[in-house]
Amino acid sequence: MASERHTACDEFHSSQAGLRASERESETVTWRVALIVLGLVAFAEAAGAEDPHALFESRCAACHGEHAGTFARDSLVMAEDGVRGRDNGRPVEAFLLSHRGGLPADDAAQLTEMFRLQLAAGGVYEQRCRICHLRARDLARFTLFVGESGLVGRYTGRDIRAFLGIHGRLEAEEIEPLYDLLLWQAETAIGR
Ligand code: HEC
Ligand code: HEC
Repeated sequence: MASERHTACDEFHSSQAGLRASERESETVTWRVALIVLGLVAFAEAAGAEDPHALFESRCAACHGEHAGTFARDSLVMAEDGVRGRDNGRPVEAFLLSHRGGLPADDAAQLTEMFRLQLAAGGVYEQRCRICHLRARDLARFTLFVGESGLVGRYTGRDIRAFLGIHGRLEAEEIEPLYDLLLWQAETAIGR
């Protein structure tokens, strides 16, 4: 009899312990989610409105389509001396100073640098990463940050250059251009 009661008590205690453990777990999860949301909000604010992607969206997308990367791959080429128009053959940075109202020199340089990186990465991200991930810009800005030795996973602490060697089935020669593109995306999100 006594031992039966004890068994019941033990069961009760262990079920309470289980409850507490799962409460603790869900508290931790809640905290994690809260921290991630805070990080996203702070980051979205730091990104500001004037990053090159936003510039493309406000000044170019109406005529050239929503995605800068697609535009770059369809309409631009990488010449020896830099990015040029596929049809007009003109150096893009100079062309943008007078095209459709013209851009300030800084903006023309920024956009041209973005196009250069997008051409170098050659659509690999769209074809092979996008199926599981946010757009490259958002992956870089929301889940990565620029540490002393380069890109790091914001919530994982991963060294992203090394990680790309074992993730996403990249060919060796695809890693560097894609890494550069993600790095640049993360860099241009800060302090602008
Ligand atoms: C009002 C529509 C319009 C806007 C806005 C516009 N473009 Fe264009 N763009 C065109 C048209 C049309 C052409 C092709 C004929 C020409 O050169 O004007 C062109 C051509 C180009 C070319 C040359 C492509 C080639 O194949 O040689 C580049 C580069 C370019 N645009 C970049 C941009 C960028 C970057 C922006 C934003 C800063 C922008 N354009 C804004 C309409 C526009
Ligand atoms: C089949 C789905 C899938 C594909 C395809 C994929 N990823 Fe991932 N990726 C994931 C998952 C899931 C994680 C999180 C894994 C983890 O944390 O262990 C991840 C993590 C990452 C991270 C690290 C984020 C961090 O904070 O540590 C980067 C960077 C990344 N992927 C980039 C890429 C790139 C670039 C490609 C394309 C070459 C790619 N991924 C293709 C599913 C995918």
